[in-house]
Amino acid sequence: MSSDTPRYTPYDKGRFQFTLGIRAIDPAEWIEVDGHYAAHLAEKRRLFAECPAEVFDAIDGSLSAQTECLELLLDNLARNLPGTVEQDDRTVRVDQTGDHYDREAFAARPLDLAGRLVQEDLCLMAPHGGTYRLIAASLCFPSRWRLSDKLGQPMTAIHQPVPGFNDKLARPVDRFFDRIGAEQVYMRLNWSVMDDPTLFQPTGHGQSGINDAITAANAGDLLWLRVERQTFRRLPKSNALVFGIKTIVDPLSSLADRPDVARGLHGAIADMPVDTQRYKSMAPFADALAGWLDRAATSTSG
Ligand code: HEM
Repeated sequence: MSSDTPRYTPYDKGRFQFTLGIRAIDPAEWIEVDGHYAAHLAEKRRLFAECPAEVFDAIDGSLSAQTECLELLLDNLARNLPGTVEQDDRTVRVDQTGDHYDREAFAARPLDLAGRLVQEDLCLMAPHGGTYRLIAASLCFPSRWRLSDKLGQPMTAIHQPVPGFNDKLARPVDRFFDRIGAEQVYMRLNWSVMDDPTLFQPTGHGQSGINDAITAANAGDLLWLRVERQTFRRLPKSNALVFGIKTIVDPLSSLADRPDVARGLHGAIADMPVDTQRYKSMAPFADALAGWLDRAATSTSG
């Protein structure tokens, strides 16, 4: 984890925003590699070895979209992030880790190979009954959800636990998905504060017991800012969408020298509806977090 100021601070506006929050980005920036690349890929490798069924799955009929996604990713890496992976017809090699993959071994699950090459988790969404449903995923760093609960499900069922999603966002999201053209890439940021920096978190919503170990004095080291840089792009041949999720975890203490951002986060949490705070499991440390942010927001450094 880095103690530099986080690159993305979507919580810095001082209010809670429950919106689509999408913006177009340069397709060259679809995939991002940062200083945690080798460590995140090693963690993915461990998860693929220890709990493969939790971190990859696909429904029948998704193979063509998976193949298209792998090809698009390899092409993107070669063009925009040269030196990340070396590839020929038979093998793919990750430069930083030395991991070496035989393409033939992934012929029946090409999205599994794609997910091992980048920090992003990769979910494929296909049009289905006027909305989109999840047809395949390489998902190593879920923020408190389990792939087996969501595979094959449409957007409304996937988001059923999210307060307000189906009333306010489900239809705008479907309309946005329909409009995404080939060559366009969009992104949005999702954020939470958690008391656990673990990347693979398949459960954990709705915690309410107070965690006495976390205080206003030590919250900087025991709480974590978890941001998802989510990207969306079309696979033109199969018409599926790739939903990329890059998970970035920074200690709360990374805001110690940024009173402006700490003030923004303080305001965003104060503005957050109670059901959303409960969903995000913030009750166990809410007072400690508020106390720490109060102090950081009024500190004179930075
Ligand atoms: C523009 C598109 C999307 C928007 C605006 C959106 C919005 C949201 C929001 C606001 C949350 C709650 C996050 C939190 O408070 O921490 C959420 C959770 C979630 N989203 Fe999305 N989402 C989008 C696309 C997708 C897609 C394509 C998938 C496909 C896998 C997905 C899967 C999930 C899952 C699994 C959760 C956690 C649900 C749970 O707690 O069980 N989202 N989303």
